[in-house]
Amino acid sequence: MYSLQHQNAVITGASSGIGRAIAIDLAKAGVQKLHLLGRNEERLKTLVAELQVHNTSCHYNLVNLEDVETIETFCNDFTSNNTTLDILIHSAGVVHLSSLEQSDIQNLDHQYAINLRAPFLITQKLLPLVKASKGDIVFINSGAGLEAGPTWSQYAATKHGLKALADSLRSEVKKDGIRVISIYPGRTATAMQEDVYAMENRNDYDSTTLVQPEDIAKQLVTSLSMSKAAVVSDVRVRT
Ligand SMILES: NC(=O)c1ccc[n+]([C@@H]2O[C@H](COP(=O)([O-])OP(=O)(O)OC[C@H]3O[C@@H](n4cnc5c(N)ncnc54)[C@H](OP(=O)(O)O)[C@@H]3O)[C@@H](O)[C@H]2O)c1
Repeated sequence: MYSLQHQNAVITGASSGIGRAIAIDLAKAGVQKLHLLGRNEERLKTLVAELQVHNTSCHYNLVNLEDVETIETFCNDFTSNNTTLDILIHSAGVVHLSSLEQSDIQNLDHQYAINLRAPFLITQKLLPLVKASKGDIVFINSGAGLEAGPTWSQYAATKHGLKALADSLRSEVKKDGIRVISIYPGRTATAMQEDVYAMENRNDYDSTTLVQPEDIAKQLVTSLSMSKAAVVSDVRVRT
């Protein structure tokens, strides 16, 4: 197994759900440094406090991924302050459900900004650091990134786009020793999925019937821990 110790990681969407579970498992796996991104300072502070029991240095950054300038400032500061980045994980995401006929175009822009543009820009800006460490880039995609049902057109379009981004990038950076991993979760017990149930007018939300965020984290840590020649390119975890 490939050790994750001495590695530095950046995680977007670390304040909640899947990103939070990944941060916890990476700390348990002994990574050296975690940079946790989100907007909710309260939740990020709580996570940093919770991770203090591990041998991992944790920092949080308040970054609104809707704002290109804020992303660029974060990436520029990160690059000038940090010499290494081994694992870049994109977990932040948003969802709006509606039939195409009734969709609000602003919701499409919102999902595009968080689910596709932000991962694109952050990856582009931080790629030199990941190249230098022959590291890993992880995209938390969705089953909707592979197939699109009714009312999912906007979200699924951004996640299909994220798949394309990952697939193209994988072939570009293979020569640099970088692994690109896409994970496609099914319905997972997080705040987002509770919102999805509400948007679907369902009142039968039961977290025990869903994939757990810890399942995704466990799968990712296993994939990252494999020998460097083994690329777990696409993982689907469904209910
Ligand atoms: N839950 C599911 O069923 C499911 C299924 C398939 C795929 N996914 C994907 O899994 C990923 C994680 O989702 P989750 O279920 O863990 O959702 P979640 O619990 O709602 O977490 C979403 C995260 O995205 C961050 N975020 C949202 N808007 C942001 C913004 N403008 N700027 C910065 N950060 C922002 C949130 O941070 P702040 O609130 O701090 O801003 C939060 O940490 C997403 O990419 C989602 O599409 C989820």
